[in-house]
Amino acid sequence: MASAGENLRPSVTVTVMADGAEDMRRLGVRLGQTMGVGDVVALVGPLGSGKTTFAQGLAQGLGVAADRHVASPSFALVNEHPGRTPFAHVDFYRLRTRAELPELGIEEVYDRAATAIEWADRFPEVLPADHLQITLAVEQTGRRRLDLRPSGPRAQALAAVLART
Ligand SMILES: Nc1ncnc2c1ncn2[C@@H]1O[C@H](COP(=O)(O)OP(=O)(O)OP(=O)(O)O)[C@@H](O)[C@H]1O
Ligand SMILES: [Mg+2]
Repeated sequence: MASAGENLRPSVTVTVMADGAEDMRRLGVRLGQTMGVGDVVALVGPLGSGKTTFAQGLAQGLGVAADRHVASPSFALVNEHPGRTPFAHVDFYRLRTRAELPELGIEEVYDRAATAIEWADRFPEVLPADHLQITLAVEQTGRRRLDLRPSGPRAQALAAVLART
């Protein structure tokens, strides 16, 4: 049984391995099936670590049509895809300054979609208090390691879903 003290403890990081791009995508699907409007996943990791692959899985899990091209947003910074739950795919890679953020209207985006943000660590101050950070690392074997760090109750519920896969 959880004591009050336990509830105050910072949440534990969950680690999941993805063996190949298909596995990465499958993890995204699993999480996408659980996400709802207002949920935010912050994807962090070096070039080519699998952020977009994971986001493509999220899109599938959220019920975005298979013929939608889910790729890193290039000029728009935000791509919104209709789905069973609408999916907002954000990429901060090309965002240079904070000054560009207000015109992005990111808070309104959070309110109308399930959101994934690539390179989220570049502007952590625009993340909502409750979000799930997923840090991707490339292992020597090429496998990807996913460290899930939830920062609130909703994100904890999402992390628990992947911990069970
Ligand atoms: N778990 C995995 N194991 C091996 N290869 C993977 C895995 N996940 C993704 N890949 C492959 O890694 C490559 C880069 O993936 P992806 O484009 O998703 O990375 P990214 O983090 O979005 O890159 P960028 O920083 O350029 O946006 C792709 O060829 C993809 O198929
Ligand atoms: Mg990408």
